[in-house]
Order: sequence, then structure tokens, then C-alpha cells
Amino acid sequence: MVPSSVRSCLFPVAGLGTRFLPATKEVPKEMIPLIDRPLIHYGVEEAAGAGCREMVFVTSREKRSIEDYFDRSFDLERALRRRGKDKLCQTIAEISELASFSYVRQREPLGLGHAVLCGEPLCSQGYFGVILPDDVMIGDPPVLSQLVSVHEKMGGSVIALEEVEADETSRYGIVRATYSGEGLWRVTDLVEKPLPQEAPSRLAIMGRYVLSPRLFDLLRDLPRGRGGEIQLTDGLRRLLEEEPIWGVTYKGRRYDCGTRESWLRATVSLALEDPSLREIVLDVVRKEAMTELTEC
Ligand code: G1P
Repeated sequence: MVPSSVRSCLFPVAGLGTRFLPATKEVPKEMIPLIDRPLIHYGVEEAAGAGCREMVFVTSREKRSIEDYFDRSFDLERALRRRGKDKLCQTIAEISELASFSYVRQREPLGLGHAVLCGEPLCSQGYFGVILPDDVMIGDPPVLSQLVSVHEKMGGSVIALEEVEADETSRYGIVRATYSGEGLWRVTDLVEKPLPQEAPSRLAIMGRYVLSPRLFDLLRDLPRGRGGEIQLTDGLRRLLEEEPIWGVTYKGRRYDCGTRESWLRATVSLALEDPSLREIVLDVVRKEAMTELTEC
């Protein structure tokens, strides 16, 4: 993979993960597995696939297992080799070779814009990626890579967009934008989580960004916005006064893993796509359906 012009990718992972309690009492929500890998692994693979070489995690207390996950585990590797599990050993060793990893703490939960600002000292090299790991994106090329390509062609910042239902606008940042063809939009305004009647469109921001380093200065001076937090969307609105922002209706599938229900859907969907797991899911569902039918 050729390194891209976007070298760093920032992962805001400081959240408490209250929707998954008690599972997340001791385990960060980013470490919850989707099939056989933690959620965060998918995000890091996506960034590496987009040519990013430096992964920057904005963390909080209790997130040390993320750090351990992306480090070498010599004891485990030795144990696996002793048992003749060389392939598994290689898979484990390769995790730490995906990129270089660095960590900075977000000391107060002041919102996504604040989390991005905390990453500034570690994202010193021009435009940088941001991945919100709750959304697992499977695309070919990887979704972040699609954004990087637009950045390299058009310049400016780029955000991933997806059309949502009218009653879902209050869950996302929503843009006003003009269509430029081939899935590309010129963003003209952004609003964080508007009510349906106030939303400028149904085009929602979907947790993948390529951002200008100028954004850091703007975030630093930003007053608190919605929910008393420093909102990334508000920072982007300021950025728009100075630099272009492009939106991409990306090609790929999105698996929302932010709630128990959506995570379950994601798990079942991915299992159905895996030839070694598909029959197991269908078998469980068939048996369950049969029992329901006999009980009717
Ligand atoms: C954040 C952003 C929002 C974006 C969303 C995507 O919201 O603030 O603009 O649409 O991620 O998942 P959050 O989900 O952190 O509340």
C-alpha cells in the first residue's frame, strides 16, 4: 500500500460506552468484538487501507486495553508457536504492524470537536483522517480511501455522507450541499442534529472525515454548542468560511455498532456473509422458527 497524502488518522475513543453496560464496565466499547475482531480493528484496517501510517487515539481512563491490543504480545506469540499455531501467531503479530500507534488523553468529556482538538499534537502533518469506530464500514476501496481520493483531486476537507430517513436527522450532523456528479457534493452548510423540520437536507455525516489542520485553530476558539459540547460540526461550519468542504456519498456498507440492537444486526449480517458461519446462523434461525410454528 502506497502511503497517501493523509498520513495520520485520529480515532476518538474516550466515550464511556454506557449503552453496552455492564459489558463495558471494564472493557472499552471499541474492544467489543464483531465476529472475531474488536470494533477498533476494523477502523484501523480501513485507515491503513487508505494509506494512513500513524494512528492517533484520543482516549480516557480504562482504555489501556486498546493500547495493549495494538502492541506486540511476545508471550502469546511464543505460546502459539509452541503449539504449532504459526498462522494464528502471524495474524496476531501483524496487528501491531498495521501502522504506528500513539495515544493522548481527553481529560474532560467535552464533545467530539474537543476530542479532535486533543489529537492536535500527534497529527502534525497536514490533512488528517478521522474515523468514528462505532460505524464499521466495509468498502472496496475502503471508505476513508474514497475520501482521500477526493481530497487529492479536489483539495479541501472531505466528509462521508449518507441519505437518512427524515425522522433520523436529529441523530446526525446534516449538510446542505449542491451535487457535482459521481457521488460528490459541495457542502454549503452544516447543522448538528437538527429536528426534521429544521434539517437543510437528509444528507447525514457518517463518521469518516479528511480534515484540514486549520480546523484545530478554529476548534480552539469555538464556543460550546449543542448539549454544552464543542461540536466538530460547528468547527466545520467555521472552516467552510475559509476552505472548501466536499461530501462523498461513499460506496460500501455501513454497520452501525453503537447500540446493542444495531451491533446484533451487524454481527448477524457479517456472519451471514462469512461462508464458515452462514450455516450456523441459518440453522439457529430455522430451529427457532420451527419451534414457533409448532407452538402456534
Ligand atoms: C457524531 C457527529 C455527527 C455525526 C455522527 C456520525 O455524533 O457529531 O455530526 O453525524 O457522529 O456517527 P455522535 O454519534 O457522536 O453523537
